[in-house]
Amino acid sequence: MFSLAGRNAIVTGAASGIGLAAARALAANGARVAIWDLNEAGAQAAAAALKAEGHSAIAARVDVSRRADVDAALAQLHQAFGKAGILVNNAGITLFRDFMEMTEEAWDQVMNVNLKSMLVCTQAVLPDMLEAGWGRVINVSSSSAQTGSARMSAYAASKGGVIAFTKALAQEFAAKGITVNNVPPGFVDTPMLRASEIGKVVDQVAAASPMKRAGRPEDMAAAIAFLASDEAGYITGHTLSVNGGRYS
Ligand code: NAI
Repeated sequence: MFSLAGRNAIVTGAASGIGLAAARALAANGARVAIWDLNEAGAQAAAAALKAEGHSAIAARVDVSRRADVDAALAQLHQAFGKAGILVNNAGITLFRDFMEMTEEAWDQVMNVNLKSMLVCTQAVLPDMLEAGWGRVINVSSSSAQTGSARMSAYAASKGGVIAFTKALAQEFAAKGITVNNVPPGFVDTPMLRASEIGKVVDQVAAASPMKRAGRPEDMAAAIAFLASDEAGYITGHTLSVNGGRYS
């Protein structure tokens, strides 16, 4: 369909769920992949699995909200594969909490991982893309930013920020050969979903959705791989909803 051969991709939060599927889809289309995750053992296992399938992959323990971690992992990528061309900002955490119970600490933690990471990771990687005159930044947001979601004020606010950030950055770098888009998953069967309050009612939510099933990580990964391609080069600032028709 399309080729990512010769491209070096970074996927954050790729030890699990959507990030892992995205890393696999990018590798399947020919990219070399760096797996960045707080879960070091999971990142190493994911890279080992990709290598066993014949792909090129490396792993690093990275807290995406910490510049020192990101800089070290980028240096590792440069040494192993060269400059980065594709960045998938996927790592995220969820939080269900009544708004009146929200603490500043919990709010800050969600903002740091879900939103500050956009600054830290993207700012680190953009010089590679600017030098090449080619780049793809794909941010994983959330349908909760589009529809709102009770008891998810910090999470929805952080993901709304991801969508606005995507649009702003797309404008700033459009003339430089760099596209910036976001994919808001709706309801995807991953460890995060299973561990959340929704995990208890996955079957009911799936039954009530237009396609009568939860999204699969591979559904998100296909959209991410497309946005990373040359063929998607005239798409920027876009929100590509991958939600099985579930818009509320
Ligand atoms: P997951 O929990 O399966 O995977 C998230 C990964 O991010 C984990 O491997 C975790 O170790 C890593 N991570 C967490 N904090 C990190 C940090 N500070 N630095 C580096 N890595 C960190 O979750 P899932 O479901 O695959 O979520 C991926 C993205 O999709 C997240 O941004 C999430 O908010 C978003 N999303 C997921 C939905 C779903 O239904 N599963 C719905 C809407 C959005």
